[in-house]
Amino acid sequence: MKTILVTGGAGFIGSCYVLMAVKQGFRVINLDKLTYSGNMDNLSSLVGNENHIFVQGDIGNYELVQYLCKTYQPDYVVNFAAESHVDRSIIDPEAFVRTNVLGTSILLRAVKDWYDLLDNNSALQQNFRFLHVSTDEVYGALKPGDPAFTEKTAFAPNSPYSASKASSDHFVRAYFETYGFPCLITNCSNNYGPRQFPEKLIPLVTLNALKRQKLPVYGTGENIRDWLHVEDHCDAIHLVLEKGKIGETYCIGGNSERTNIEVVRTICQILDELCPHQDGKYEELIHFVTDRLGHDFRYAINCTKIKNELGWSPKHNFTDGLKATVKWYLDNKAWVENVQSGEYRRWIDKNYLHR
Ligand code: NAD
Ligand code: DAU
Repeated sequence: MKTILVTGGAGFIGSCYVLMAVKQGFRVINLDKLTYSGNMDNLSSLVGNENHIFVQGDIGNYELVQYLCKTYQPDYVVNFAAESHVDRSIIDPEAFVRTNVLGTSILLRAVKDWYDLLDNNSALQQNFRFLHVSTDEVYGALKPGDPAFTEKTAFAPNSPYSASKASSDHFVRAYFETYGFPCLITNCSNNYGPRQFPEKLIPLVTLNALKRQKLPVYGTGENIRDWLHVEDHCDAIHLVLEKGKIGETYCIGGNSERTNIEVVRTICQILDELCPHQDGKYEELIHFVTDRLGHDFRYAINCTKIKNELGWSPKHNFTDGLKATVKWYLDNKAWVENVQSGEYRRWIDKNYLHR
């Protein structure tokens, strides 16, 4: 049985990956600090499963990471842990530097120091991989007709979040170039699916609509994102981990570009169909608000490399995937209630009250 040290495995994408890996027969050591977006409810189906070992802690804790590597001898490390929300990075950039830059750097050093002491000829040392999960935002913003981002696009991060992720990507790359540490990087587009913390557009709009609250659309709503189902993303990550070429980057996208206003209107139509409301159509709740500072206009990913080299392409189509996602939030009332805790309310007031 192979062992994967997953960081940030209680978050939205990390928990999807952990559930998938355990189901496929891997043992997972899940290191997560449980910040506001870390949620043990995401992992409730693994309670009592001895192939999931949860450890609450920080990727920036060198001794803890070393202890976990020495104790569990992971075949792979997959780093999801991060501060992930652009709007929060605009208000508190240093939190992003601490985890995304310094945390990733310490994690790399702790894992590498353990890896360096492994027997050179051992299968563990030869097959070990460190995969860093990153974002398309490191490439900056596209204009309407621009070609989509590829692995060769120059970095041009615009927000404190994307600047911190770009920096972490550079550290990972440097560990490969300087020490020959067997790293891989993935840069992907906007994820959607079950268990996403409702500060992000799709769950925020869905849950606000159900409470008949305003649906805040930044600026004109014309900004474009390329939506990728979280399960497709996790499949791609696992493929890169097992079959990718060390030292390389792979771009992962959903081939589903949509304007924000299209996404919000589609959610409203799905809700009109699944739970019509006597007070009127959900679209009536749409409310254009002050734009995000430095709001990137468009992201889009060209996934030709991962398709040609590893045979991956997204399986979900956005129309069906979005409907199933909205239905998941309707069907999981306990999860929704728990996630909308005190911290969540504080964030909503901070970001939207004076917008
Ligand atoms: P998330 O905010 O839902 O989850 C982040 C997880 O990391 C949480 O469980 C949190 O507790 C944990 N964490 C935060 N700081 C930590 C620390 N110092 N030590 C250990 N754990 C810590 O984020 P997500 O949407 O699941 O994103 C996961 C990764 O994927 C991030 O690296 C993000 O940059 C990247 N990514 C996300 C998207 C997206 O659309 N959500 C797209 C591209 C890339
Ligand atoms: O592109 C990948 C990135 O996607 C990831 O790296 C980030 O971790 C992830 O959060 C996401 O970033 P975005 O900023 O694109 O996602 P968000 O859901 O915050 O916003 C999506 C779009 O919707 C964006 O153009 C801003 C807009 N928006 C967002 C919110 C929260 C609104 O119009 N209203 C809102 O209330």
